[in-house]
Amino acid sequence: ERQLEPGGNLRASWEGLLAEARQCTRCDLYKCGTQTVFGEGPLNPRIFFVGEQPGDQEDLAGRPFIGPAGQLFDAALEKAGIDRTQTYVTNAVKHFKFVARGKKRIHSKPDAGEIEACRWWQEQERALIRPPLTVALGATAARSLTGKTVTISRAREAPLTLADGSECWITVHPSFLLRIPEEDRRAEERARFVEDLRRIRARSE
Ligand code: URA
Repeated sequence: ERQLEPGGNLRASWEGLLAEARQCTRCDLYKCGTQTVFGEGPLNPRIFFVGEQPGDQEDLAGRPFIGPAGQLFDAALEKAGIDRTQTYVTNAVKHFKFVARGKKRIHSKPDAGEIEACRWWQEQERALIRPPLTVALGATAARSLTGKTVTISRAREAPLTLADGSECWITVHPSFLLRIPEEDRRAEERARFVEDLRRIRARSE
């Protein structure tokens, strides 16, 4: 098991963690994706975001939230006045899980065992970074952070306190906003997401 040297350099510790994560075989998903998609961002972020798992484009690029959900996320962050370069962005599960359909790779939800196996990495990231403010994007992230099944509609109203005493907000996952078929409702839900992010930004200042 990894030991954090007392007084050791934070960046070096994080890089050590990343190198280990790239070799991870804690669950079978390492056989599925191209590579581990680890978190990225400054190690003293204002906000620590947790998504679900990398998608097709993230798997190929090795970076979180850069595909369609990432573009929606970026646009919402901008509307809410949050600078992504001051945030750390990671996923509850660090490998892409998919089923092949012809040439397409269709995202498939991580199960409870995979979320549990990968929680270890999220906890290591948090233990190093010790973010003052964490945001769960969707139910998988909320489960990874709290260990419980969470109903987003109820949980998004007020923050929780995590085991380390820090504040955690729960909101929807950007992919949910991409999938809403009715235009009016989609616009409404996107605006609500931006409102959640504005409240979170106010807490980070
Ligand atoms: N969805 C996620 O949860 N994470 C990503 O990195 C991309 C899409």
